[in-house]
Amino acid sequence: MKTSTFKALVGVAAAALLLAGCERPPVDSVQGGYRGTAMGLVYNPRILEKQIPLNQPPEALAAVPSDGPKAKDVYQNVKILGDLSVAEFARHMAAVTAWVAPQEGCNYCHNPANLADDSKYTKVVARRMIQMTQHINSKWKNHVADTGVTCYTCHRGQPVPQYVWSAPAPDKNVSRLLGDRAEQNAPSPVVGLSTLPNDPFTHYLLGDSDIRVAGTTALPTGNRHSIKQAEYTYGFMMHLSTALGVNCTYCHNTQSFGSWESSPPQRATAWHGIRMSRDLNVAYMDPLQPVFPDNRKGTQGDVLKVNCQTCHQGAYKPLYGAQMAKGHPELLAPVIATAAAAPAAVAAAGTGNLEPVKLYFETAKADLPADVGKQLEALIAYAKANPDAKLGISGYHDKRGSVAANAELAKNRAVAVREVLKAAGVTEDRIQMQKPVETEGGSDDKEARRVEVYAAK
Ligand code: HEC
Ligand code: HEC
Ligand code: HEC
Ligand code: HEC
Repeated sequence: MKTSTFKALVGVAAAALLLAGCERPPVDSVQGGYRGTAMGLVYNPRILEKQIPLNQPPEALAAVPSDGPKAKDVYQNVKILGDLSVAEFARHMAAVTAWVAPQEGCNYCHNPANLADDSKYTKVVARRMIQMTQHINSKWKNHVADTGVTCYTCHRGQPVPQYVWSAPAPDKNVSRLLGDRAEQNAPSPVVGLSTLPNDPFTHYLLGDSDIRVAGTTALPTGNRHSIKQAEYTYGFMMHLSTALGVNCTYCHNTQSFGSWESSPPQRATAWHGIRMSRDLNVAYMDPLQPVFPDNRKGTQGDVLKVNCQTCHQGAYKPLYGAQMAKGHPELLAPVIATAAAAPAAVAAAGTGNLEPVKLYFETAKADLPADVGKQLEALIAYAKANPDAKLGISGYHDKRGSVAANAELAKNRAVAVREVLKAAGVTEDRIQMQKPVETEGGSDDKEARRVEVYAAK
């Protein structure tokens, strides 16, 4: 082969490689905002076709009875899920095995000779991960809504989630003549192979550097943000788009990136998502650093951390919005576990009269609010200290909505409270569901949306 032909071939191969990194036409375009507002969304049907099978939820496990002995009474070293029945606990263990270590099985986390032993780091990490998942589902509802997450949302059947990040190696040219590249001109998939700074995560998802850079006045008066800072913001925004498989217009009116008024609602959800990801990295992932072995850390010795892609994996909602947490109440909130594991409170509660307890609910919701743990704890403590006492439960609603929907809502709120009490060991024969004569709970909105629990005869 002549050198020139060879060179030409290499040229063609290189061009093909380059193109493989691009998206070839045709693509579909969907109008997002009003015509002419530059809010069209562009989708590549071939990428979507590959994405969909990759983002299917796992099969749900059958429900199991919640009565019978509790895990904490049967096992030796159960710190978080102790209030599940033994059957529910076994179901949880089967689920995490399928979600996190299907190849390796129970022994990925357990010493088979003694399941109570904590000597494997994976078990220690997994215990903290249960708490992290509960935290996401209960404290970050403004991002994950009732859809919620389970271990599968991030892990997808692998011990190490596919999309994680860690600190990049420092630029070795910093102190040389070539100068500091400032994380730039080194094409990185993190920023969609652009030449933007390629470590936005350390700045925005561990630290809380300012993402907003645009000035709010016509003249550059008072806006101290540099072009460099704007480049960091753009680099991070490339990640947001890639992680969700969307264009900038999914969250912005590109006529004015900074304006909240003209942004689609997804931008506000994303705003919470940024704070949530940061919270997970700072409060859960980073502190696990001493627990992980070196081969599970990044090149700089930091732990692998969470970004938008860890959960989203190219979908606008993880697993295209599949209801993940629903089939796993143990991952919804730490309420049940903390409520019953309170022997000290039992002593403090003593015997005697129960002041009626009011639990306030969100508008149109019958989900147990996350902030009622202490009140439930006190109720459960009272029930334990007074084994003969009975509890009455009544649900109320505010004046918005139809009569039929409101009756259902008031009932469901009362049922939600009954279920936690039952889960904490208050038997059903001690609970009286009492429909009030007037279920509309008064004029003040918040006061109206309540469940009352009181001593019954
Ligand atoms: C991803 C890690 C992980 C996997 C896989 C796993 N477990 Fe566990 N297991 C844990 C954690 C964490 C605890 C402690 C839970 C707590 O503190 O509330 C635990 C506790 C237990 C206990 C209680 C032991 C005691 O006496 O304290 C039993 C029993 C158990 N697991 C059984 C199993 C079985 C059976 C399997 C396989 C089907 C399994 N586990 C798979 C993480 C795991
Ligand atoms: C928000 C995403 C997310 C969720 C939800 C999540 N994890 Fe993780 N998990 C991670 C990340 C990130 C790591 C770090 C990987 C590393 O450094 O090895 C990790 C690591 C682990 C490891 C250590 C694996 C290894 O081989 O080093 C275990 C075990 C684990 N998770 C179990 C669980 C369990 C059990 C749940 C559900 C109760 C869960 N995770 C939920 C993100 C998540
Ligand atoms: C998933 C939603 C989402 C996507 C997609 C997205 N952004 Fe953003 N963008 C946000 C949020 C949220 C903020 C504000 C962040 C904050 O204040 O913490 C923001 C802020 C910005 C800002 C700063 C605005 C200001 O007030 O200074 C710019 C510029 C920007 N985005 C550009 C882009 C570009 C360009 C793209 C496409 C490559 C993009 N964004 C894609 C959600 C998104
Ligand atoms: C712990 C997992 C997790 C992480 C991490 C995460 N998200 Fe989400 N996100 C979800 C879930 C679950 C939903 C679905 C909520 C629902 O059904 O309304 C969601 C929904 C969204 C939506 C709304 C989509 C729509 O069409 O309504 C946006 C936008 C979004 N996420 C952006 C982000 C951004 C940006 C990041 C990173 C800064 C991020 N998310 C990180 C779990 C996560």
